[in-house]
Amino acid sequence: MNKIIVTGGLGYIGSHTAVELSNTFQVVIVDDLSNSSIDVLDGISKISNRTPIFEKLDLKNKENVGKLFDRHSDAVGLIHFAAYKAVGESVENPLKYYENNLSCLIYLLQEINNLNQSFNFIFSSSCTVYGQAKKLPINEKESIKKAESPYGNTKQISEEILFDYCRVNPKINVISLRYFNPIGAHDSCEIGELPIGVPQNLVPFITQTAAGIHEKVTVFGNDYNTPDGTCIRDYIHVTDLAKAHIVAIENLILKKSKSNYNIYNIGTGNGTSVLEMIKSFIKVTGLELNYIIGPRRKGDVESAYADNSKAMKELNWKAENSIEDAILSAWNWEKKIRSL
Ligand code: NAD
Ligand code: WQD
Repeated sequence: MNKIIVTGGLGYIGSHTAVELSNTFQVVIVDDLSNSSIDVLDGISKISNRTPIFEKLDLKNKENVGKLFDRHSDAVGLIHFAAYKAVGESVENPLKYYENNLSCLIYLLQEINNLNQSFNFIFSSSCTVYGQAKKLPINEKESIKKAESPYGNTKQISEEILFDYCRVNPKINVISLRYFNPIGAHDSCEIGELPIGVPQNLVPFITQTAAGIHEKVTVFGNDYNTPDGTCIRDYIHVTDLAKAHIVAIENLILKKSKSNYNIYNIGTGNGTSVLEMIKSFIKVTGLELNYIIGPRRKGDVESAYADNSKAMKELNWKAENSIEDAILSAWNWEKKIRSL
């Protein structure tokens, strides 16, 4: 079995990807547990009937990264999820974000270069790089706007680093996946999203409210230029997103692309408004949900949903789950972790 290193593999998206990878790859998870728990490893092992190799280490320590590659010089690829991702915190503490998100990437790329062999690398990017796009659905040719936050800027800078690196390292093949809005949990309810503190994202806030942790959901603005006035996003089931990484790494291993740096949008292609999400939650769960309309949230874009035709054509990938499947899985996960 080919060996793949998964950095941030105990986090939300990394854990779901580790499960999918386990079918065909030997998985090495690297995580410093800064935003995850070691229990997630049990969840992954239970679902996949295999325990991944686990390396607890901090990738912003250059020496650690060197040692990691000494131990796993036989790896054929790496999927790089490890990063800090809280947009608000990045505004308050930008250097924390620039240091972690950029130094981990640079140290990994330096070690990969030292291997002096062909290597495959997938980077977790984000639709946040587009800001408010001029044209919807958003395709990969959309221009990149000045980032709204240091977090978003780390994704833009990382993509530029990868572009420059690939130009002079033809043996290294890279794909950046620009995720839209991942939601939901694995159908087994063994793994899911574990937000720390009060969630900033819509779906965990909805499920926590339904679980009685918050009194109500505040809809951030209903005066946008959209059919119901609330913002539109492309919510994608995390398992569909995880599967995109498998086809992407396989595409690289099989050298299917002429270019050694490619970017793909990973979204369903459908836009859903905040009010539609709330109504969908009420419909699929049969529960009441207390919500009010509040003011706009600073930095929010009005509408963002993916043109995913490039991923469909070149990676043969498409999302299989409906928005209802995704919302229900998020609720089932919330019930499981709250013992409801
Ligand atoms: P997450 O926080 O759940 O997972 C990230 C993992 O990386 C955590 O387990 C954390 O402990 C680990 N980590 C962070 N810094 C590390 C370091 N220096 N060394 C080792 N491990 C470290 O986040 P997620 O939602 O799974 O996101 C994964 C990636 O996808 C991130 O790069 C994020 O920016 C990107 N992304 C996420 C979303 C989203 O909405 N969740 C959207 C677009 C892009
Ligand atoms: C979705 C919609 C809110 C909470 C964020 C990051 C982005 C990316 C994905 C990583 C918006 C509205 C939310 C609430 C609400 N992450 N909302 N009430 O803003 O698209 O993107 O996650 O790269 O960088 O910024 O996702 O889930 O926060 O919000 O009305 O309590 O729900 O205004 O319209 P967003 P989100």
